[in-house]
Amino acid sequence: MMDWTDRHCRYFLRLISARALLYTEMVTAPAVIHGSREKLIGFDPAEQPVALQLGGSNPDELAAAARIGEDFGYAEINLNVGCPSNRVQSGRFGACLMAEPELVASCVAGMRKAVGVPVTVKCRIGIDDQDSEQALERFISTIAQAECETFIVHARKAWLEGLSPKQNRDLPPLDYDRVYRLKQAHPELEICINGGIETLEETEAHLAHVDGVMMGRAAYHNPYLMAEVDARIYGEDFVAPTREEVLENYADYAERHLSTGTRLHHLIRHILGLYHGQPRARAYRRYLTEEAANHDAGISVLHTALEQVQGSHHPHTVAAE
Ligand SMILES: Cc1cc2nc3c(=O)[nH]c(=O)nc-3n(C[C@H](O)[C@H](O)[C@H](O)COP(=O)(O)O)c2cc1C
Repeated sequence: MMDWTDRHCRYFLRLISARALLYTEMVTAPAVIHGSREKLIGFDPAEQPVALQLGGSNPDELAAAARIGEDFGYAEINLNVGCPSNRVQSGRFGACLMAEPELVASCVAGMRKAVGVPVTVKCRIGIDDQDSEQALERFISTIAQAECETFIVHARKAWLEGLSPKQNRDLPPLDYDRVYRLKQAHPELEICINGGIETLEETEAHLAHVDGVMMGRAAYHNPYLMAEVDARIYGEDFVAPTREEVLENYADYAERHLSTGTRLHHLIRHILGLYHGQPRARAYRRYLTEEAANHDAGISVLHTALEQVQGSHHPHTVAAE
């Protein structure tokens, strides 16, 4: 998620679930080709499996960027055809491309030729007035002909004219049934659903109709909900780490990154939701936010946060509070 997630966030989430497939935020193909690659798409192998999400509409550029992504080790290359931001529309990528299925098919074909890893597409159920079931069907079947087998469908349309990107994530109503029907019409495709899914109970209910579930905001705000993913969704015999174990492991990682110049704030902002819904959530969050704002703040902030949450399980500390 642009401006929210990054490699540190993914590393943190990976400490909670070994199996969930993680996606990068969207990176444009020209940026991957001409920009500072290590900074834009570098990642730690421990984050795997990770999919690189690209934005663009030029088949050659997308093919080149996909190849670079594969060389970096990404497990999947995903094309974003769902982002409604203005920035993105002027560059002719994102959701506005839903109006141009043939162009998207050429992009996917170019990317598929360039890489061996799967090429997938993330889209909406429609845009503006092109939101009929037939328009979605035409879009999906055109791109499927370019041998794209996996689609992640955000189950709401985007209003490109008139709604801000933020409004476009909340206001157009969710239509999960539309995505279920898409799967019924295309049993040969892998159809994953996205939009407004907040719990593993909801995830399991969707999985009765579709092949996969993508979680965005809920996983960011309440990351520890991922702790049960491996056992419940993937059927693994897996004991999830405790929140404290996650924090301890993340502190080791953060220490390594601080020593190479990453600012503490960039490492800490993703972990503020770890205690979401727990009695200590507010104190933990406040402590980290306030301390990380201090310019001299170092790794001790994380260690102290850990001591505090560990202390809160100690009967004496609880009694003293
Ligand atoms: C801050 C923010 C940035 C986002 N950036 C991206 C992005 O880079 N690529 C993408 O496919 N979707 C992006 N999204 C959309 C989410 O992936 C997701 O489709 C949407 O939030 C609905 O799912 P959710 O209700 O589970 O969050 C972003 C969402 C937010 C809130």
